[in-house]
Amino acid sequence: MATVIAIANQKGGVGKTTTAINLAAAFARKKKRTLLVDLDPQANSTLTFFPLDEVTHSVYEVLTDHQMTFPEIVKPTRFANLCVAPAKIALAKLEANLVGQFDAPFRLKDALVPSRDQFDMIVIDTPPTLGIMTVNGLVAANYLLVPIQAAYYALEGTDDFLETFERIRARPNPDLQLVGVVITLFDKRTNLARDSLKQVRQVFGDKLFKTVIGKNVRLEESPAYKETIFSFAPDSPGAEDYERLAREVLQRVAYRENKHTVSNARATSA
Ligand SMILES: Nc1ncnc2c1ncn2[C@@H]1O[C@H](COP(=O)(O)OP(=O)(O)O)[C@@H](O)[C@H]1O
Ligand SMILES: [Mg+2]
Repeated sequence: MATVIAIANQKGGVGKTTTAINLAAAFARKKKRTLLVDLDPQANSTLTFFPLDEVTHSVYEVLTDHQMTFPEIVKPTRFANLCVAPAKIALAKLEANLVGQFDAPFRLKDALVPSRDQFDMIVIDTPPTLGIMTVNGLVAANYLLVPIQAAYYALEGTDDFLETFERIRARPNPDLQLVGVVITLFDKRTNLARDSLKQVRQVFGDKLFKTVIGKNVRLEESPAYKETIFSFAPDSPGAEDYERLAREVLQRVAYRENKHTVSNARATSA
């Protein structure tokens, strides 16, 4: 069964998409069969891998009226072990489409069922809102990973976001766990960045990943060349940061799953 990680933060420009693309790429390089699910109508993740005219079907067709199944829309990329479930601008209409549907928050979770045995890691990129797409991502996931930009007002809006997380845990998805918070776009030369790192650490404690993603122009350039950081600039600090983050995520997931197995074993032997 795949481990499903949603990358979410309702703020835009905090590095969600960059993190989703490069974490997925890092997992794939570690021979994990990886699926990147793009839930953002802006389709930035999708367009990093395919030209627009090659994206015929998207998550939209699966989530609206079950026109297609998930395996039918999944596209292999040119990278080994890495597939993408594409987004299209049509996804923007989904919100309106799902109004009043009792199962609206569960559409992605249900649709993913046939793909869960085909992949080891599923990474979900979400739009910068707390709307139905993000909720679908959080309901389908076992883990939430939150990128936070080291900037002024870094923590603004975090309360709303954490409240949504707790509401999702209370009802539609009690299994959802915060795997961690990662600082992105960090510029160690500025006091501002260092101050916001301190602030974020105070709030999140050991939920904060040790790895900090530095500002690196290669990370910004690579999508335009249809590359991940590992194919575009394998020796860059950006590649190193995302490789370290991937390792840390896998360690945390392994630790949690282990604990889970041990407590299940105790429960059955008791
Ligand atoms: N570590 C980084 N260093 C430099 N540029 C970055 C970094 N992370 C993201 N960016 C750039 O910042 C912008 C916003 O990042 P993005 O990942 O699209 O954020 P989001 O998905 O949260 O809106 C993009 O232009 C992206 O290329
Ligand atoms: Mg994005």
